Formats: sequence, C-alpha cells, structure tokens
Amino acid sequence: MKRIHFISGLTITIFIGFHLANHFASIFGAASHIDLMDKLRLIYRNRIVESILLIAVLVQIISGVNLFFSKRKALISYYDTLQIWTGLYLAFFLIIHVGAVLTGRFILDLDTNFYFGVAGLNTFPFNLFFVPYYGLAIISFFGHLAAIHHQKMQKQIVGLTVAQQSNGILFIGIVSTVIILYGLTNGFTGVEIPEEYNILIGKYE
Ligand code: HEM
Repeated sequence: MKRIHFISGLTITIFIGFHLANHFASIFGAASHIDLMDKLRLIYRNRIVESILLIAVLVQIISGVNLFFSKRKALISYYDTLQIWTGLYLAFFLIIHVGAVLTGRFILDLDTNFYFGVAGLNTFPFNLFFVPYYGLAIISFFGHLAAIHHQKMQKQIVGLTVAQQSNGILFIGIVSTVIILYGLTNGFTGVEIPEEYNILIGKYE
C-alpha cells in the first residue's frame, strides 16, 4: 500500500510542479497564466495523460486514507505529525478541488481557466474560505514532501542536516504560497471576474 501511494504520489507531483508553475505565472497577469495553461493543457488534457492523472489522484486519496487508518502508529516526531496532517488536508482538498474542476467543465460548461480558479478568491465573502483553502493546499503539498524527505534522506547537503533540508522545503512552500496568492489576486488588489463565471460567486443576473 505504501509503495502504491508513493508511485501515484510521484505521478501527481509531476503534474503539481507544472500546475504551481502555472499559478506563479499569474504574477505577470491573467493573460500569462492563461497562455501557459493553454500550452500545458496540450499535455495534461491529452485523454491518456489526464486519465492517468485522475486515476492517480483517486488511488492517492484511497491509499492515503487507508494508510492513515491501518497504521495508527504513535506519532513520534514532528515530521510524522506533519506528514499525517498535511496528507489528510490534501485528501480533503483534492476531493473538493478536482470535483469542482470537473463539475465546472462538464456540468456548468465553463472553461476552467484562471478566472474559474480565482473567482471565489477575489470575491468577498468567498475569499474568507478560499484564501485558507488554497493557501493550506500549497503549504500542505510542500509540508508532505518535507516529511517524506526527512524519512528517506540520509545525507547532509552542503552542510545542511536532513532536518534543515526539510525545513527548507517547508519554507519554500510558505514563500511560494504568498507569491502565488499575490499573483492570483492581482497583487492583492483583486481580479475582475468575467460575467460567465458569475454563477460561481452567487451572482445570477
Ligand atoms: C492556488 C491554488 C490553486 C488554484 C487556483 C488551482 C486551480 C486549478 C484550475 C483552474 C484547474 C483546472 C485546470 C484546467 O482546466 O486546465 C485545476 C486543476 C487541478 N488542480 Fe489545481 N489549483 C490550485 C492548487 C492545486 C494544488 C495544491 C493541487 C494538488 C495538491 C491541485 C491539483 C489539481 C488537479 C489534480 C487538477 C485536475 C487536472 C485535470 O483537469 O485533469 N491544484 N486547478
């Protein structure tokens, strides 16, 4: 089960690397974000690649929740606790996030682009939910990687202990979160959402 979780995790991590790089592009504006997504979609919206990705997400959630219930070991170190909590949050996030994207695309018939992703984030009071919802997702992703790194890494790198390396990964995650949220909110000043996304933010006229 652990091995399956690791392999599906690697598959998803490759996508998330590109996905977060895509969100970084928003610091150069919505058009840059959409431009890059159009290019990346050529790869991940390919029927085979997307099927593999979505199956990996499903396998990741099921195997992760299974590991959580089957292990029930004492959480000895800080990194054990970090791994469990970030993993649980990612399972919760992925179910809602991927469910929302698929609903937007196939039921609401929306282009699930930049504006779909940031509609709630840039509208009060929905932003009260979306800031922690997205923020914790990015931090949890890096936190989960930091915990795995701590488990598997044995060597120092340029004089840094394994714990320092893991803390470095977590720190990169926190900084990345702030930069991405800055980009997705037009430098914290807000993004005007096109009318076709009104349904997402409770406007029906
Ligand atoms: C700032 C945070 C995020 C925003 C605004 C966001 C937004 C989006 C959008 C708009 C899509 C649709 C992409 C498309 O139609 O081409 C998407 C898809 C997806 N996102 Fe995110 N995302 C965020 C963070 C994350 C994180 C942290 C993860 C993983 C832990 C993640 C996993 C996924 C997955 C698996 C898909 C489905 C890809 C597919 O359509 O097959 N996202 N996201």
